[in-house]
Amino acid sequence: MSDGFCLAHLTDPHLTRPFPDHWRQLANKRLLGFLSWHLRRRHEHRPEVLAALTADLRRRRPDHTVVTGDLTQLGLPGECEQAAAWLEELGTPENVSVIPGNHDRYVAENWSVTLEKWRPYFHLAPGQPFPFVHPCGPLALIGLDSAPPSPPLRATGTLGKHQCRRLGELLERNSDRCRVVLLHHPPHREAVATRKRLTDSDRLVRLLARHGCGLVLHGHSHRWQLHWLDGPRTPIPVIGVPSASARGKRRGYRARYHLYHFRRRSPDWEVTVEIRGLEPDTGRFRLEGEWRVTVAG
Ligand SMILES: [Fe+2]
Repeated sequence: MSDGFCLAHLTDPHLTRPFPDHWRQLANKRLLGFLSWHLRRRHEHRPEVLAALTADLRRRRPDHTVVTGDLTQLGLPGECEQAAAWLEELGTPENVSVIPGNHDRYVAENWSVTLEKWRPYFHLAPGQPFPFVHPCGPLALIGLDSAPPSPPLRATGTLGKHQCRRLGELLERNSDRCRVVLLHHPPHREAVATRKRLTDSDRLVRLLARHGCGLVLHGHSHRWQLHWLDGPRTPIPVIGVPSASARGKRRGYRARYHLYHFRRRSPDWEVTVEIRGLEPDTGRFRLEGEWRVTVAG
């Protein structure tokens, strides 16, 4: 597929090795996370799977790529550096956008030693809070931060009043483009367990029903998910994709990414979704399916 604007979506690469500079850095919620990574998660999130995905992605030459969080395991400063190097390989901030996930903000930490290194990919000036808006071809990418640190054994997300108010303003101001909203946590209640949910999802759902948008893209659940939210004129598709590095030991969790091809069909947008997934026998990514949807934008 070559005509139209092509947006790639991948999420939850969990690409880093979480070794602290000093073991004191694990004297908090991170200790449980480190054990979980060492005993279980490092066998599921594999660098060779992510490398195969990014090789396939490069061959598809999307116009822009979005990564909806969880680049790291524990959000350690050294991990944020590893992830920043990976982002630089993936592309420049001109053609890559990122938002944080709950693993990237695992505990309260000064951003100057962690996420500051990703700031160019957040499209935010120093000191400027989320959300960001990034005009990109016919699209307006609106990135949210749903990942303030949560207590041990929880992975909940929250947007907060201020961010939601700004989101409403940005949706209004960019209504001449196809607006794509990015957040780590799925906005619908039934998508994940209570301990992982977005606590103020009702507020976001009300906002989107009032202002509308073309698509909502998320991560966090590590599964392919499609839900619909009410929009002012037509329903809004809400789409999640599995982790970009998952071997897929559990059914439905094997690595995938999506390519969204946008074409103007005034007053709406026709979007063709190309699903590319890991083929376990070859270790390569291939086309798994395609579907088409018309969105209001
Ligand atoms: Fe994740």
